[in-house]
Amino acid sequence: MTIDGKHVTAREGDNLLWVALDNGIYIPNLCAIRDRPEPMAACRLCFVKVEGKERPVTACTETVTEGMIVNTKSTKARDLAKRGFELLMASQTLDCAHCSKSGSCELQHIARHLGARLKSKRLREIRRELPIDDSHPQIIYDPNKCVLCGRCVWACREHLGVGVLGFAHRGFERVVTTFEDMPLATTKCDRCVECIDVCPTGALLLKRETKTAAASKA
Ligand code: FES
Repeated sequence: MTIDGKHVTAREGDNLLWVALDNGIYIPNLCAIRDRPEPMAACRLCFVKVEGKERPVTACTETVTEGMIVNTKSTKARDLAKRGFELLMASQTLDCAHCSKSGSCELQHIARHLGARLKSKRLREIRRELPIDDSHPQIIYDPNKCVLCGRCVWACREHLGVGVLGFAHRGFERVVTTFEDMPLATTKCDRCVECIDVCPTGALLLKRETKTAAASKA
């Protein structure tokens, strides 16, 4: 098969997103998890054009076939991803100057890749102003920086069997939280910190990292 003119070998039925990433071709993505059998397909950032298909498709839900021709740079696919990114960022708290994830944040990376601003001037900003959970001895959770990608929910459930983190509410109110919104410190969290490893933004951070970032920026 071919992706952006590069010949790529993969197994028929492999997932297109991972085939591209494994071959050094970046496609923006937030909600994809390699081991998850069913993709969540929630972030709508991984649009690509597949020859023979009328509309762009999400790479995370597409399987590869022999001779497939994929264009990750098609204008239509880019525009869809860019619009999705702008909408996502409209309700996102930006605090890059004080965030220890700045520089390795996937949102910054995606913005650069798409040639988009972190905050679009076209859209009105909607602030969520949710309380930060500072109760845990190691972890700080700021739901205002969460993009609802579900990676932490998945990682927590895979690690503990019964996840400490889960989704609550619908629509704009949707949030990742603990059962009954309990403080993280009072849950069964065993401090594996896998949620922090998979979080693409600065929503879940180690407390010592936030202190080091604050000290170096003071
Ligand atoms: S990675 Fe495909 S929709 Fe999120």
